[in-house]
Amino acid sequence: MDKLLITGNGPLQGDVRISGAKNAVLPILAATLLANNASTISNVPHLNDVTTTMALLGRLGCQLTMTDNMQVEVDPSSINDYTAAYELVRTMRASILVLGPLVARYGQAQVSLPGGCAIGARPVNLHIDGLRALGADIRIEDGYIRARAGRLKGARLALDTVTVTGTENLLMAATLARGETVIENAAREPEVVDLARYLTRMGAQISGAGTGTIHVQGVDELQGAPHRVVPDRIETGTFLVAAAATRGKVRVLDTVPENLTVVLDKLRESGASLTQGEDWVELDMNGERPRAVNITTAPFPDFPTDMQAQFCVLNAVAEGKSRIVETVFENRFMHISELMRMGAAMDIDGNTVTVNGVSRLKGAPVMATDLRASASLIVAALVADGETTVRRVYHIDRGYERIEEKFRQLGAQIEREPDN
Ligand code: EPZ
Repeated sequence: MDKLLITGNGPLQGDVRISGAKNAVLPILAATLLANNASTISNVPHLNDVTTTMALLGRLGCQLTMTDNMQVEVDPSSINDYTAAYELVRTMRASILVLGPLVARYGQAQVSLPGGCAIGARPVNLHIDGLRALGADIRIEDGYIRARAGRLKGARLALDTVTVTGTENLLMAATLARGETVIENAAREPEVVDLARYLTRMGAQISGAGTGTIHVQGVDELQGAPHRVVPDRIETGTFLVAAAATRGKVRVLDTVPENLTVVLDKLRESGASLTQGEDWVELDMNGERPRAVNITTAPFPDFPTDMQAQFCVLNAVAEGKSRIVETVFENRFMHISELMRMGAAMDIDGNTVTVNGVSRLKGAPVMATDLRASASLIVAALVADGETTVRRVYHIDRGYERIEEKFRQLGAQIEREPDN
């Protein structure tokens, strides 16, 4: 296990390049299972969750080849196993994304129930109900989802709750079902759109991805295809918030500004000057202290829950009082107690945090609990006086590629050490 040693070192300055989106590459790697032959996926971020997914695909019998510039070739034609075992799924709940492809293409799957995680119970009932509606016979036995199916049959799927991976699982399964499937109340995240783009390249017939209603005409088979993973809008937002909180000037490259419009609007509201091009955004705080902004998280295109923890830090050091409401997950405030140990003035009431901005935070030993909370602790350490030690950084490595190197490029004083 590693830890990060960070010393507050003034405003961040410079350029940083964004990697491929974690929450796009995970469903896309799962979708390679749907094809008769190999796909080549590029702009794959170097993340623990990607390594875990590749290990899972390997266990299913896929042939995987990775080139040095993080291009991954997946050939599913030698698949001989249909089980995603508990010891792997418990390390990465997104493993559930192989369920839809395995059922649709191979008529069988045994996938461990992912169980809850730090931020909430995170049930998968909508994944299961949707696959049953498409004709799969699914039983829950000994903590596993055991699925059997002949050819799936298209259906109208009205999702009670907007679910990103639920939409993705059902979208993947529907591509090979007989007839038409309509997914209503579908997730509209850019990562769902990127998955649909890849599936369409494979020969799937999809319309409406990115809207609340997705139509799929099933086809008999799909061919492997090349695909470049969309840049990570949450990594982009994380670096921009770090620039704002440290009153710096940072340009973020290789990104897609229109995938985080709401976040950019909130940063402008906090006093940042933003300029942008087709694949870059520059934030300049002009050395000013940010102003507090109110946030309510909700499914895309509203404010992303994955940016909530980072904005808690921005508000912690901003001018004024703010409220942050988390409507997506029931326990996504674990970073608050850690930030309070660094001097933040915050008060939790149910799914709402009230923040009174303070001018400075103070470095302290803190513990990472989940991926985005960990990133917020790094941002807090960058604006704090003195040294902060962030323990359990494996949470961070799941979703951020070489995070300390990228922050060092911007002038941060941050070192990784073994934490034995
Ligand atoms: C995806 O998780 C992301 N992960 C999460 O990112 C992200 O926070 C989340 O979407 C919301 O945007 C990946 O894409 C791999 P949901 P997912 O299903 O799909 C309830 C990160 O930090 N629900 O959209 O698991 C659920 O309890 C991670 O990168 C059901 O009730 O989230 C939650 O309250 C964290 N039944 C709400 O829906 C279901 O069957 C949204 O969850 C499924 C979900």
